[in-house]
Amino acid sequence: MCGIVGYLGKQEKTISILITGLKALEYRGYDSAGIAYQKNNKIKVIKSVGRLEQLEKKVKLENTVLGIGHTRWATHGKACTTNSHPHQSGNITLVHNGIIENYIELKQMLEKKGYQFQTETDTEVAAAFIDDALKSSKNMIKALKKAKEKLKGSYAFAIFNDLEPDTLYAMKKESPLVLGKTEEELFLASDPMAISSYTKEICYLNEGSIVKLEKNKVTLIEEKDTRPIWKTLNIENCNNGKNGYAHYMLKEIYEQPDVIYNIINPFLKDPEMEFKKLPNFSKYKKIQIVACGSAYHTGLVGKWMIETYASIPVEVEIASEYRYKKVFYDKKTLVIVVSQSGETADTLASLRKANKDHIDTLALVNVITSTIAREAKYILPLKAGSEIAVATTKAYLAQLTLFSLITLKLKLEQSSNMEEIIPLLSAFQKLPLKIKKLLENLKTKDIASKIYKHNDIFFLGRSIDYAICMEASLKLKEISYIHSEAYAAGELKHGTISLIEEKTPVLSLVTDTSIQEKTISNIKEVKARGAYSIVVTNQKLEECDYCDDFIIVPSTEPLFQPILNIIPFQLLAYEIALLRGCDIDKPKNLAKSVTVE
Ligand code: AGP
Repeated sequence: MCGIVGYLGKQEKTISILITGLKALEYRGYDSAGIAYQKNNKIKVIKSVGRLEQLEKKVKLENTVLGIGHTRWATHGKACTTNSHPHQSGNITLVHNGIIENYIELKQMLEKKGYQFQTETDTEVAAAFIDDALKSSKNMIKALKKAKEKLKGSYAFAIFNDLEPDTLYAMKKESPLVLGKTEEELFLASDPMAISSYTKEICYLNEGSIVKLEKNKVTLIEEKDTRPIWKTLNIENCNNGKNGYAHYMLKEIYEQPDVIYNIINPFLKDPEMEFKKLPNFSKYKKIQIVACGSAYHTGLVGKWMIETYASIPVEVEIASEYRYKKVFYDKKTLVIVVSQSGETADTLASLRKANKDHIDTLALVNVITSTIAREAKYILPLKAGSEIAVATTKAYLAQLTLFSLITLKLKLEQSSNMEEIIPLLSAFQKLPLKIKKLLENLKTKDIASKIYKHNDIFFLGRSIDYAICMEASLKLKEISYIHSEAYAAGELKHGTISLIEEKTPVLSLVTDTSIQEKTISNIKEVKARGAYSIVVTNQKLEECDYCDDFIIVPSTEPLFQPILNIIPFQLLAYEIALLRGCDIDKPKNLAKSVTVE
């Protein structure tokens, strides 16, 4: 999603810092980019559609002390040079993340005052509004306060005006924005990753903050406190390259054994102590898991784990629905939000809704410096390291691992019997090696070559296998652009089976032994209608006339089986996308960190 970089510092560094910063944000997904800087009392704006390389071709490394940069993920108006940021109006030049919800109303008001608009964006309207407010107040802080009062929606702005050379302003509401500093430089960024190679001294801006940056001077106008609170950035989450892999996604798939090991190792060494460190869940009679996309899918697995092994009812909700619906929770409810980025707008809003109602909240989150990590009552870090590929793999697996640990803790609280947990932990201990071996032996390339040209691929499973199929289907469609659906195996014949044609690939996951026979009869139904049937299983299936191909996953304790089951699907999606020549790490239209609703 959109990214912001701002810099006030050394002449010769400005342009390259803007470009490097934007490159560090590329993984978030964007469709155009631009920079603006002050030079000899003039403002230069350079924009380009497509990848940053296109912008770089247009940019000259001029000397200037102040600049702002932006990567845009289109929301209002198509992806084109005109609509890309920075935007200008009168004396104002700015970049913006977020959505101004009342921009039509403001645009009409500004048009009556004589403003003309060149773009389809809400951002240009914000620039005009601030310019108009500056005209009447003659004071930039007052103008920004007025904008804060009138602009509805979400925003992080980096702004400068023609009247104050070498001065940078920023303002934020519901979109992340951080400051950074060194002795002689000041930085602004929507994600610390953009500036982490230049500074580790970071200040997270609070909601509603307005900031003025001048040479070696930061003036912070906040609702509660006026002093910036500087923290040292934990560099753990910084991008350290592809490490020889062709894509980040592939590297991240292969990092999964280490990710699990990092989470469970402390529990193997000192289980008593580590389980004590987890929040005490004993007072909760109900759990609500709220998340988006793949994180929502891990919630479905978490529900199965907790309900099956700890008998506590769990509701799983899509965050964009949850935030606006009537929710039934009380002091005995725990709300768990799940997020890799920790910045997903709908998940954050859901967390805030629960926090506002004084309901206990727990965040399973990868980026521990994120807003969600800072605002949840309890946090469990995923410890997955930075995940760059838009399609999540290792963060998803880390979330499943944490849900397994939460389940074990709940069991422990119910029986106080560590003896019951120890054998499960020893099965847990074997998972990293099992994943390593599975990755070595998978023959997904061969299967991918048979099915990659198809336009529709279906996934079937029951119960927990269905939850994994949902993630498998999302993985495939987001990176290969093949239409795909995951179906509860018994539900297919209620309509969707009409889409099965001769050779339609159907991947079925059969590891839940309790309903294995039922799933198999559903597979036979699609096979009878001509499907090309691929069965993913940890079982020895006796009769094989219903499958054209097999993928075998190793067995483990049923509680942990889902952690192994997703692996072949991740790799298969990758191989298919590769054969189709897709941009695997940056799929079209997608963003890594979805900071708008
Ligand atoms: C996963 O592959 C997706 N790109 C997407 O569904 C993602 O899981 C979702 O946007 C939630 O993101 P978060 O975990 O950062 O909150």
